[in-house]
Amino acid sequence: MKKYYVTTPIYYINDDPHIGHVYTTMAADIVKRFKISQGYEVMFLTGTDENAVKIERVAKEKGIPTQEFVDNLAVRWEQYFRMFDLGFDDFIRTTQPRHVKTVQTVITKLFENGDVYKGKYEGWYCVPCETYFLESDLKEGNCPDCGRPVERVSEENYFFKLTSYRDKLLEYFDTHPDFVMPKSRFNEVYSVIKEGLRDVSFTRTGVDWGIKVPFDEKHVVYVWADALINYITAAGYVTNPDNFNNIWPADIHLMAKEIIRFHCIIWPAMLMALGLPLPKRVFAHGWLTCDGRKMSKSLGNFVKPHIEVEELVKISGVSEVLAKDAFRYFLFRELPFGEDGDFSRTNMQLRYNTDLANDLGNLLNRSQQLLTKNFGGIIPDGKVFPELAQKFEEIFKSYLEKMEEFKFSQALESLWIYINTLNTSIELKKPWELVKMGKTDELANLHYTLYDGIRIISSLLSPFMPETSKILAKAVGLDEAPKIANLKVGQLKIGVKIVQTPAMFPRIQKKTEEQTKPPDAKVEETQDDLMSIDDFQKFKFRVAKILTAECVDGADKLLKLTIDLGDEKRTVAAGIAKYYKPEDLIGKLIVCVANLKPAKLRGITSQGMLMAATNKGVDEVIIITPEKPVEPGSIVK
Ligand code: MSP
Repeated sequence: MKKYYVTTPIYYINDDPHIGHVYTTMAADIVKRFKISQGYEVMFLTGTDENAVKIERVAKEKGIPTQEFVDNLAVRWEQYFRMFDLGFDDFIRTTQPRHVKTVQTVITKLFENGDVYKGKYEGWYCVPCETYFLESDLKEGNCPDCGRPVERVSEENYFFKLTSYRDKLLEYFDTHPDFVMPKSRFNEVYSVIKEGLRDVSFTRTGVDWGIKVPFDEKHVVYVWADALINYITAAGYVTNPDNFNNIWPADIHLMAKEIIRFHCIIWPAMLMALGLPLPKRVFAHGWLTCDGRKMSKSLGNFVKPHIEVEELVKISGVSEVLAKDAFRYFLFRELPFGEDGDFSRTNMQLRYNTDLANDLGNLLNRSQQLLTKNFGGIIPDGKVFPELAQKFEEIFKSYLEKMEEFKFSQALESLWIYINTLNTSIELKKPWELVKMGKTDELANLHYTLYDGIRIISSLLSPFMPETSKILAKAVGLDEAPKIANLKVGQLKIGVKIVQTPAMFPRIQKKTEEQTKPPDAKVEETQDDLMSIDDFQKFKFRVAKILTAECVDGADKLLKLTIDLGDEKRTVAAGIAKYYKPEDLIGKLIVCVANLKPAKLRGITSQGMLMAATNKGVDEVIIITPEKPVEPGSIVK
């Protein structure tokens, strides 16, 4: 079986985990589940970085012996990650004997090979960042990264000859353009190497807490040199060489962008010095903020994932396991992996309602109600509609491509196109009319298409929403979701009796209009030809979602749309046929004037008008769509 080795950073444990730590660890869990579903045997490593000066200081401040302090916190971190069902196979702690032994072996080897030599360090050290700086690096005397005060260090230390690996590193980067992702991070690291490197101090003498240098016990190993080695400790470099040969190099090191220099410069150089292969890829995601602000101790605004899950359960009534899935979904759908992203509870609730309660939830509910009503809950002998089979091929291809590139949000976007195409097929095929007309074959095909679609969704959703995926698999009569590696359309078993699933994602009830009304504003009118606010208030703009879109016979400019306005569905004729294909519009949110008198256009009674921009000087019409998902029916003002 093909092997895959994925890692997260090991985290400093001077406090409890927050959303940032859970984010990277969840990403690794997504990668693991995806790779397993593709037929790989996966090793997923996470853990804790315990030999840091800052940890020792916090323990001292709290009056707790350092070892006892880290022992307690490591258990809490591991439990926290387990609470979110993050399926790591190994949880490494840098105070474990296996790691101490590996670090001591590595530093000795580097010393014996002449890659580590004794020297004198004169400079500065930032304890919060656990990083050395020269006088010239400082910004107004403070740490150039975190802005906090730095400490003077004047010590006899052992240095790692990073400078002698500069050319080899450049050559490696030149020949491995995918080594660091995204590309912007690759370029950043590349230019740092190009500018020139300095040897790094690899030991400290002024501190007691840490791993002793075996050939000179006055020294402890610098925490970053120690921490990076964790990836080979866990693979068994010293303690289990067979396993090590089987699994190393790692396929991917995941982390946020602030620590790539350690992972893309120092770590590869250390591996080169040891004669070991380099990890295949380093992927750095962005930083999460909360409601647009950096999370920090002083602001006290660290988002705690368990609190967000509790809140979601409270306001929606969703079960706890599905609330955890919804939280995962939001993080990886809303925030493009690789870029900075903002966590906002309001946005999470919007996504929950639109994507999960409406799109996914409705698909399952409607499919189940129709199957019970029309076929007594038994999957009929039918065929997947060719257009849906084709849609599957399209979205599956793009889903796989995006997953390989770690573009999780786009992979989910492709999946949602498929979900909404299935939803639309109900509107288009109108099963209630098929029943009336006695078109049983077509009716069977529709139900088969829907259920086969839910089977496919259970598979593609499994890396992101494992519990939801299980429920969907059960809902189509399977014990588990199909593996992504073997996914094909039309594999649903016929004749299976379906057990109905209760609603998975109950809607969060929206605020009444009164509550969302803006405070009255007094506006002074200055020019007579301008519209008064009273005139403007006559317009009722609303957000709507396009459910169906079709061409109109004999009117090549028009598209006939069915739109969802929250509490009602309407038909709208829009003159955009030249600019949009009907299938590209389905599921889009638009802005529409909701209080226009109905008008007949080419035989269609249009009950509203869609807003669009006409691109200046170009024959192009672009529909106006909200910047983020908004509930259909929401007021635009
Ligand atoms: N101990 C080092 C890593 C050693 S790896 C050999 C360290 N630890 S840390 O506790 O500071 O964790 C940093 C990592 O936590 C980030 O790289 C990222 O994975 C995660 N995050 C912590 N805060 C974060 C955000 N605000 N946003 C996104 N992820 C961040 O550095």
